[in-house]
Amino acid sequence: MRVVVIGAGVIGLSSALAIYDQYHTTVRPLEIVIYADKFTPLTTSDGAAGFWQPYLDDNGNTQETQWTKQTFDYLLEHVHSVEADEMGLFLQSGYNLFKGRAQDPSWRDIVLGFRYLTPQELKLFPEYSYGWFNTSLMIEGKSYLPWLMERLKERGVKFALRKINSFEQVIQEGADIILNCTGVYAGKLTADPEIRPGRGQILKVFAPWLRHFIVTNDLDSGVYTTPYILPGSSTVTLGGIFQLDNWSETTNSEDNSNIWEQCCKLVPRLKNAKIMSEWAGLRPVRKTVRLERETINYGSLKAEVIHNYGHGGFGLTIHWGCAKEVAKIFGKIVEQKKQRRPPQSHL
Ligand code: FAD
Ligand code: BEZ
Repeated sequence: MRVVVIGAGVIGLSSALAIYDQYHTTVRPLEIVIYADKFTPLTTSDGAAGFWQPYLDDNGNTQETQWTKQTFDYLLEHVHSVEADEMGLFLQSGYNLFKGRAQDPSWRDIVLGFRYLTPQELKLFPEYSYGWFNTSLMIEGKSYLPWLMERLKERGVKFALRKINSFEQVIQEGADIILNCTGVYAGKLTADPEIRPGRGQILKVFAPWLRHFIVTNDLDSGVYTTPYILPGSSTVTLGGIFQLDNWSETTNSEDNSNIWEQCCKLVPRLKNAKIMSEWAGLRPVRKTVRLERETINYGSLKAEVIHNYGHGGFGLTIHWGCAKEVAKIFGKIVEQKKQRRPPQSHL
């Protein structure tokens, strides 16, 4: 069975690993190749801070809440393992802040030790009147993607730097099953008006004395450009830029100033921090993640595509649950292919 994965961000790599580990056997070997025009450390997944936190409002999408929970539980199982360092995985506690009351999030019982802020804690953040404290996880793409690539190489999965212009291109080359994990660029391969860029920009600063995450939220304005501070393994990520339909992947000084001013207002001590780097990337924004199967016919040829894209600002947060779902769909396709095969002749 020839499987082609298009995309080598967290979604493509984890989907490939999940299907290999469930369906590769010596009797029925899987031949998997991953094509991408960007590999680690150049994907969006590498640039993201890697903080585990879904959006505050799941819009009733209980399916996505289930996938984020599966991811949290999977990562938590590994957090004290010998692999955790190489994976870029560690526990991280901190604050979510609001200017007014907020509804409890769908993930309140997924994270550890969710509770409301005390008046004493709120005094630390004079502009905010309400908030939560909890322990979550960091899974840093810059470590996790190389770790995933290593696991795939050990299993004989092949990689090629290549831009794919159509599914037909890989169907002609003999692909039986295609995994479409192309993130924000998925619309180039499949007609989907719903996928849009949500441009982000971040600064990485050296501030080892900052030990807690601080995420601010503004529920009323409908604007997602609110500051956040996410301590990582070696630097602290400062962010808060969200620009819908902006396709620019380059940084600009105006956004840098906004991030810097807003974060320094939140924690004035940050003014002493040294700026190490800046980065811009595009969140693959969609109302819901697209995770479904599509049959593509090309002349007399036919292939099954499993779409897995549109993970917005929570790709690392949800990736493993989605990878497991891809494996489930993959299994059904394999079963159907077996049933369709004509009985073998004994002559
Ligand atoms: P990508 O990482 O973009 O990978 C897409 C892959 O597809 C790439 O390899 C690309 O080369 C390939 N590709 C696309 N089209 C083609 C083609 N035609 N041919 C060949 N290859 C192709 N999420 C979190 O969970 N936590 C965070 O803290 C977090 N912080 C973020 C901060 C910022 C500033 C941004 C921008 C995003 C953040 N995110 C965060 C969101 C997260 O980065 C994304 O949801 C995630 O990276 C999406 O993963 P992906 O694999 O779908 O896409
Ligand atoms: C972001 O998309 O910028 C983001 C994601 C998760 C937590 C904080 C920020």
